Amino acid sequence: MSISFEGRVAIVTGAGNGLGRCHALALARRGARVVVNDLGGARDGSGASSEAALAVVREIEAAGGEALANGANVADYDEVKAMVDAAVARWGRVDILINNAGILRDKSFAKMTLDDFALVIQVHLMGSVNCTKAVWDIMKDQGYGRIVMTSSSSGLYGNFGQANYGAAKTAVVGLMNTLVLEGQKYDIRVNTLAPTAGTRMTEDLIPEELFKLMTPESVTAGLLTLCHEDAPNRFILCCGAGGFASAHIYETEGIYLAPEEQTPENVVARWDELNAAATQRELTAGGQQTEKFLKKAMQHFGIEG
Ligand code: NAI
Repeated sequence: MSISFEGRVAIVTGAGNGLGRCHALALARRGARVVVNDLGGARDGSGASSEAALAVVREIEAAGGEALANGANVADYDEVKAMVDAAVARWGRVDILINNAGILRDKSFAKMTLDDFALVIQVHLMGSVNCTKAVWDIMKDQGYGRIVMTSSSSGLYGNFGQANYGAAKTAVVGLMNTLVLEGQKYDIRVNTLAPTAGTRMTEDLIPEELFKLMTPESVTAGLLTLCHEDAPNRFILCCGAGGFASAHIYETEGIYLAPEEQTPENVVARWDELNAAATQRELTAGGQQTEKFLKKAMQHFGIEG
């Protein structure tokens, strides 16, 4: 089976450097026409330059592909909307959105300013929201869309000094979960990538020898599986240094306590049972949790349903 993007139009945000650049080049090599978006700022989000996006467009064109450079700040909806309009004006559709742009403002929570927190949320979460919002109706109308969020192990599991980044990176998983439900009937599939790679974002955090093993290409191989025609839906794919794994949120079956038993002491007494890993399963909509609990309560009260 070979994966082709022939005839597809893709937008990759933050594609002037690192992972986004590698994603854009790979999509173009496999036939997609690509909007190479990049604000061109520094790692902490300061500054701007169109050079990074233009350089990637030149690389794509030199290899015989088609690309459009764009300098929109993903945190600004009007700029994002103009980017999407330009893609539609040139190619008539948008099939794929890779929400990849990102910045870091690391500090322990005690030292982190609220501005540093808000800016990181603005770029990672609201950037993904803005871009998704701007393509959503187009994808609905054409009955086809593939959207990828970029999360991180820091979001899924936490990382010292990254309260802002971790919160934003979990938030995009939450965004995916609901968009999957709303996009299903239009064949809009939404997945999440949790990468780890040697880029300017991680260059001072990883020893040089290991940095070289963590190629952007190894992550891009995973990214392409999340946005092609037969892509999964609601999948969290973790990739790095040639390793590929999936991440899930599971919930245990839990216990039931009748009204007269509903005390914290009784919950603690059955903690091991409510936390029994063998009973856990993945829920795919919030209502399933309510249903599960109500079923137990209805059984207790003999209510048919
Ligand atoms: P990078 O710093 O090399 O590239 C990020 C790009 O996003 C830069 O070119 C930057 O100019 C652009 N950008 C930043 N703010 C923007 C904005 N407001 N609008 C448009 N473009 C903007 O970083 P890297 O490592 O390639 O990261 C890509 C994504 O992967 C990010 O979302 C990052 O959080 C995520 N990630 C990376 C990991 C790694 O190990 N490198 C680990 C986990 C997640």
